[in-house]
Amino acid sequence: MARTRTTKKLAQRVDLNYFKRATAYKRAMMWLSVVVPLLAVGWIAWRGFTRDSRVYSSGRMSQAHAVLEKECAACHIQKTGEFSSHAANSACLACHDGPVHHENEVAAAVPACATCHMEHRGRIDLSSTSNQSCAACHGSLRVGSGQVHYAAKIHSFEDGHPEFALLRDGAKDSSTIRLNHAIHLKPIRQGPKGPIVQLECGDCHRNYAAEWKYAVSPNPASASYELLQDNSSGHAVQPVPSLKPYAPGNGREPMRPVSFATACSGCHLLTFDKRFDEGVPHDEPEVVHAFLVRKFREYIAAHPGEVRVIRDPRRDLTGEPLPPDVRVLTQAQWVAERTAAAEELLSRKTCKQCHALSLHQSASLPSIAQAAVRERWLPHAKFDHDAHRGFSCVSCHRKALTSTQTTDILVPGIANCKTCHAPGPEHAESRCFECHTYHDWARRKEVRSTYTLPALQNERDSSLGSE
Ligand code: HEC
Ligand code: HEC
Ligand code: HEC
Ligand code: HEC
Ligand code: HEC
Ligand code: HEC
Ligand code: HEC
Ligand code: HEC
Ligand code: HEC
Ligand code: HEC
Repeated sequence: MARTRTTKKLAQRVDLNYFKRATAYKRAMMWLSVVVPLLAVGWIAWRGFTRDSRVYSSGRMSQAHAVLEKECAACHIQKTGEFSSHAANSACLACHDGPVHHENEVAAAVPACATCHMEHRGRIDLSSTSNQSCAACHGSLRVGSGQVHYAAKIHSFEDGHPEFALLRDGAKDSSTIRLNHAIHLKPIRQGPKGPIVQLECGDCHRNYAAEWKYAVSPNPASASYELLQDNSSGHAVQPVPSLKPYAPGNGREPMRPVSFATACSGCHLLTFDKRFDEGVPHDEPEVVHAFLVRKFREYIAAHPGEVRVIRDPRRDLTGEPLPPDVRVLTQAQWVAERTAAAEELLSRKTCKQCHALSLHQSASLPSIAQAAVRERWLPHAKFDHDAHRGFSCVSCHRKALTSTQTTDILVPGIANCKTCHAPGPEHAESRCFECHTYHDWARRKEVRSTYTLPALQNERDSSLGSE
């Protein structure tokens, strides 16, 4: 017989007492609904009892403020005992300064500290502020008084950021040292009879002082003009011989200005007379003069016979070969003549190769123009060679390979930075804070914080009690 499956028959299979009968599963559910809220309330009460208010928090604190995780009051109590969900500037300023940005800013437009330094976003770096917090002003820049000095529509590094002023205005390098980079970056002879060598950028440019390859060894003593500079700071600098711990750099050291002693002296010898192998000291013309006089005096005292000078026949204007004409000089005359000849050679050729010389009518010696090798090229941004040491010098300073004029600017422009500094995980950071400071730290005020973490306070109290 066929099975009949009527609705009635099906209905009879339903257990009408199901909801009245207790099962293990239902008991568990019941207990859960009672115990969990109880636990939660208990947890909150316990936290309240132990004065821990993290339970109300809207997220974990930044790395720098992690120790304040339980100290809501430090930022959120504005009037005694009253919790505010805003953190007032005054709370931040009670612990540390946040100096103003720019004297020209419109005071009313200045955002609150908390707008840029966002809290409760997890263990982030608090200084990693958004582009938006800068673009709020720099997107349409206004100044408190006078004219806007800078590009006025910057929204991000990609959108509206101008080419650096240095390259925009066709500026020139105003250093007076005539260095031809192109010649020195091809294989070049180390002095008239020396071997052919290949110079590297680091043979002349470094921000640290290890041994220099093209310095004469031992290094000549400081030149007098350098000593003058040192003394201007008021006290003599006494180097303390000690090992320095590895300093990962304060980061911002520029390359040291190129110096003759460490970078040129190994090849440009400043020789002045075939009687001597050594050259003159690299120094002010007065010092060079005194050196020459001393050298020639010592020489003539040791070789008195040389006061008999044979006139070079080639110097006769008639072109006729003449019998040698012998002059006998006093030692003083001889020294004066040799010194004058050496100085003529130096200023006409040797010193002039690298320097701009000027001869004033009143003075007998030429004067050397200030070297004026510039150290900072982008003063409104921060740049750090150490952060880029993994990249070759020419990847940014390609122009150095072909530059023949000192006036050429070899510092790269914005297109170069953009090849690496761009949005997205496969690029280096490109938000404003990476390259700029916001606070003018020169105006920093000392803040005497009176804040002590309660945990430390208890420790102090108990140590006082045990005395
Ligand atoms: C170092 C300072 C600091 C401390 C400490 C701190 N907060 Fe905040 N909190 C902030 C800042 C900044 C904001 C953003 C508020 C604003 O826009 O002014 C904020 C916002 C809040 C908000 C509002 C919601 C939001 O995300 O904007 C709550 C709620 C809050 N905090 C709770 C707490 C609690 C609870 C604690 C303690 C466990 C605490 N905070 C500790 C700085 C702090
Ligand atoms: C109870 C004291 C205290 C309060 C209040 C406080 N801070 Fe701090 N802050 C610190 C300490 C401590 C550090 C870590 C040492 C340092 O870098 O100065 C710090 C570090 C910082 C840093 C540097 C972060 C980094 O990565 O180096 C910023 C930015 C900062 N605080 C901003 C704020 C802002 C904005 C507020 C107000 C919402 C605030 N702080 C409130 C104590 C405080
Ligand atoms: C427009 C955004 C902005 C505002 C507003 C702002 N800051 Fe900053 N702050 C920054 C940036 C960007 C940095 C990192 C670069 C620098 O040092 O200037 C920073 C750095 C800091 C530092 C860390 C210095 C360190 O040790 O590295 C402190 C502390 C700080 N700010 C405190 C404050 C305080 C306090 C206020 C409010 C009075 C404030 N900031 C307002 C953007 C801002
Ligand atoms: C309250 C408005 C305001 C905010 C916010 C602001 N700036 Fe400025 N900024 C100015 C003004 C005004 C000037 C000066 C303009 C002038 O003199 O023409 C300036 C100048 C500058 C300069 C060039 C001057 C110098 O000395 O370096 C830089 C770079 C700069 N700001 C970067 C930033 C960055 C980065 C941020 C975000 C962290 C920021 N600014 C946020 C108003 C602001
Ligand atoms: C023989 C020594 C020497 C070598 C090698 C050398 N430089 Fe220079 N460099 C100088 C001197 C001296 C100056 C300063 C005079 C001037 O501004 O031209 C200078 C200036 C510079 C400047 C700043 C001036 C500007 O106009 O931008 C840059 C950047 C620079 N060099 C990069 C390089 C790079 C990159 C290399 C390697 C590819 C290199 N240099 C190799 C001696 C050298
Ligand atoms: C091969 C190139 C070279 C030659 C040749 C050279 N100098 Fe220099 N001189 C430099 C460089 C580079 C500097 C800047 C760095 C330094 O002080 O060492 C400089 C700086 C100077 C200064 C300091 C200028 C200032 O900024 O105040 C004086 C003075 C000077 N030289 C004198 C001389 C005299 C005198 C001669 C010739 C006897 C000479 N130099 C030959 C490369 C040269
Ligand atoms: C490795 C050896 C070497 C070093 C180091 C070196 N030079 Fe030279 N330099 C030479 C030689 C060789 C010449 C001649 C090249 C020629 O005329 O073809 C020369 C030529 C020059 C000239 C004339 C270039 C021209 O355009 O005619 C100047 C200026 C000069 N050097 C400056 C410097 C300065 C400044 C330094 C140090 C910062 C320096 N040199 C370091 C080997 C060197
Ligand atoms: C990768 C590095 C980098 C980033 C990111 C960056 N800048 Fe710059 N910025 C520079 C350099 C370099 C200069 C040239 C500085 C100089 O001329 O002294 C400059 C110049 C400026 C100037 C002066 C402009 C002028 O007219 O000369 C302002 C204003 C400025 N930046 C604001 C910003 C703001 C706002 C942001 C974020 C939206 C930002 N920058 C992001 C590197 C950067
Ligand atoms: C990521 C690009 C980059 C690389 C790589 C790089 N530079 Fe620079 N260099 C710059 C910028 C940008 C400046 C201008 C910085 C300033 O003075 O504000 C500069 C400036 C200089 C200056 C002028 C003085 C100074 O320190 O400001 C010299 C010299 C120099 N660089 C040499 C070198 C040498 C040598 C190397 C290789 C060891 C090198 N650079 C690698 C970008 C770079
Ligand atoms: C070849 C790739 C490359 C180029 C080109 C480059 N950068 Fe960078 N830069 C980096 C990397 C990688 C870092 C370190 C990682 C990071 O901060 O994301 C860095 C870091 C920096 C920093 C932060 C340094 C610090 O530690 O605080 C500044 C500022 C900066 N770059 C400026 C510039 C400027 C200005 C230019 C153009 C003149 C430039 N960079 C060109 C790759 C590059």
